Amino acid sequence: MASETLLFHLSDIHFGLEDNKALDWVKQEIAELRPLAVAITGDLTMRARDREFAAACNWINALDLPVTVEIGNHDMPYFNLLERFFAPYNRFRAIEKLIEREIDLPGLAIVSLKTAVRAQPRLNWSKGWVTRPAQAKCLAAIDALPAGRKALVAVHHPLREVGTKGTALTHGGLKALTELAKRPVLAVLSGHVHDPFDLIEDTPAGPVRMIGAGTLSQRLRSTPPSFNELRWDGHTLTVRARNLDEVPTRYMQIEDVPENALPPREPGEPVAPVNQVPRTDPPVH
Ligand SMILES: [Fe+2]
Ligand SMILES: [Fe+2]
Repeated sequence: MASETLLFHLSDIHFGLEDNKALDWVKQEIAELRPLAVAITGDLTMRARDREFAAACNWINALDLPVTVEIGNHDMPYFNLLERFFAPYNRFRAIEKLIEREIDLPGLAIVSLKTAVRAQPRLNWSKGWVTRPAQAKCLAAIDALPAGRKALVAVHHPLREVGTKGTALTHGGLKALTELAKRPVLAVLSGHVHDPFDLIEDTPAGPVRMIGAGTLSQRLRSTPPSFNELRWDGHTLTVRARNLDEVPTRYMQIEDVPENALPPREPGEPVAPVNQVPRTDPPVH
């Protein structure tokens, strides 16, 4: 393949508590670089309110390019429990219809795997859960791809813990990842933990690459607002964690201890030169 495919991977915009400065910047980057598509890996909103979905819809449609969206745990009804149980995905699906457009990428396909569920047999329903039907649907979509086409699997929750401050604790994650390892999967794209990473996870069926995008909301964990720029040349997928503070990707990603990437400051303390944080800093437990 001669030309390079450029994709943007955004996540966790959380309209209702979005970072407008970051969103203006991303919009500008999209207008300038014109990626072939944008994949958004969930948590479009804070509480799945109509006004939050409307804001998401307006912002995404104004990008004027193909976009895929995944459902996040914040995109299901939060206040209306009846709706949460009986029609948890209706609000998101209605918006998805307005937003998503057919995407035709050379040699690649973005395939969805739902990890957000209405309820689960543990106290914290915000965590990930791969149901059997969701996994079957995803695998069938991969198996139906034309020969030679590789899949980028888009999920909300990382399928395995990756050492970020936030956790996904995805039930069935390793099983799903093991099935994906048997198939032509280039990478699994996720969000939820609000910090970026790019790791290889070993499964009983072989390695799978897991790529996480940070957040474009005010709900920061360890790193400034960011998104991932993915470049695919037919052989290699490269990832840059783009951020307004211009922190280099290697300091943004979890393998380089993002807990230390932006150390908390006392009032009056000068801003630390983030890009000079030594890579050998001990991990914070
Ligand atoms: Fe989130
Ligand atoms: Fe989430």
